[in-house]
Amino acid sequence: MEIPVISKKTDSYSIFIEPDFSDFKERFVPLFPDAKKVCIVSDESVYSLYKESVEPLLKESFEVVSFVIKPGEASKDINVVLEIEKFLKESGFTRKDVLLGLGGGVVSDITGFAASLYHRGIAHAFIATTLLAMTDASIGGKNGVDFEGIKNIIGSFKMPSLIYMPLNTLDTLPEREFYAGFAEIMKHGLLADSKFYMWLVDNMYEICDKDKDTLAQMLETSINIKKAIVEKDPFENGDRALLNLGHSIGHALESYFAGEYVHGEAVALGCVAAAFISWKLNKISMEDYYEVRDMFVPFNLPISIQIDKADYEDIYNRLIKDKKNTGGTVNLVLLKKIGKAEIVKDISKDMIFAALDELNFTEED
Ligand SMILES: NC(=O)c1ccc[n+]([C@@H]2O[C@H](COP(=O)([O-])OP(=O)(O)OC[C@H]3O[C@@H](n4cnc5c(N)ncnc54)[C@H](O)[C@@H]3O)[C@@H](O)[C@H]2O)c1
Repeated sequence: MEIPVISKKTDSYSIFIEPDFSDFKERFVPLFPDAKKVCIVSDESVYSLYKESVEPLLKESFEVVSFVIKPGEASKDINVVLEIEKFLKESGFTRKDVLLGLGGGVVSDITGFAASLYHRGIAHAFIATTLLAMTDASIGGKNGVDFEGIKNIIGSFKMPSLIYMPLNTLDTLPEREFYAGFAEIMKHGLLADSKFYMWLVDNMYEICDKDKDTLAQMLETSINIKKAIVEKDPFENGDRALLNLGHSIGHALESYFAGEYVHGEAVALGCVAAAFISWKLNKISMEDYYEVRDMFVPFNLPISIQIDKADYEDIYNRLIKDKKNTGGTVNLVLLKKIGKAEIVKDISKDMIFAALDELNFTEED
């Protein structure tokens, strides 16, 4: 299935949702007639699983080299990007050559960023292998790394030439990572499409069973939500910011807990906090808040955390440093209703602390 992403303001490209790697060669090779070399950027786990599925498809047409990083968020580091630049230089890459990210969101964020810097920008493409990268991270051209404890604070916009999603790679994805990806899918329903949100509720069991047709349908709808937003506002001057639902508080928690929660889990917590504040500001009902919160539970996503109250200030400081905030105040994406989000400025510190209190419960509470 092909989903084109077409914008007047950026290069256009296509997303392919496919059962496996069989169509990859015919999608990839013709896009780069002048390229001589391809550098596959991947992480150790994904590379060992899928090297043999990808490299033979490219070797007839290109000289293929690979740069393999350690799995996990810690690799989203400027020094890793500089190592890639060095490797490309030493491997004789020219501006006609191509980077191919093979992996999840960490790999796509780094690959896109490295490609945007080398020779001021060489072509890049992705093979997305996590649910999170398929539904979100690989799409829309945002790339970057974390810096001094702040998520994604250094980065660039650069559109890929192709995004290929082989659904069979989800078979090897650890359960925890599968459910983490679901958080971004829920986010899309919550912020833009109440019918899709209801569809997710109705198809909960099929999704958890990883029924391939259900997953393909779910991805198609979720991708189309992101596609419509990034086509209109590729550089986040307006509505694209709505995609940050759950991300401001989520990123603050992700960096505070330093590896305890994977990105999608932190987004789930951030969505619960945003839904709570939406209720407290009378935008959604109490029933809606509890329904949204409880929808994360069957997908094994966290809705509570244990934090020492003395650390609320630390989390708040991380939130203030979020690049979406201006002038020392907190701006959040909140729910106007299920299926519609808006940006609300100047959320008080008391409200943030109340949301942290709400998350800070144990089963015994
Ligand atoms: N640029 C964007 O628009 C955007 C949007 C959302 C998230 N992100 C970023 O994406 C990152 C999270 O991405 P992620 O959740 O994909 O995490 P990830 O890339 O760290 O992958 C998760 C884990 O799964 C493993 N893995 C990946 N595919 C596999 C497969 N098919 N089989 C077995 N193991 C596999 C990886 O080795 C890794 O250990 C975060 O850094 C986040 O900031 C970016």
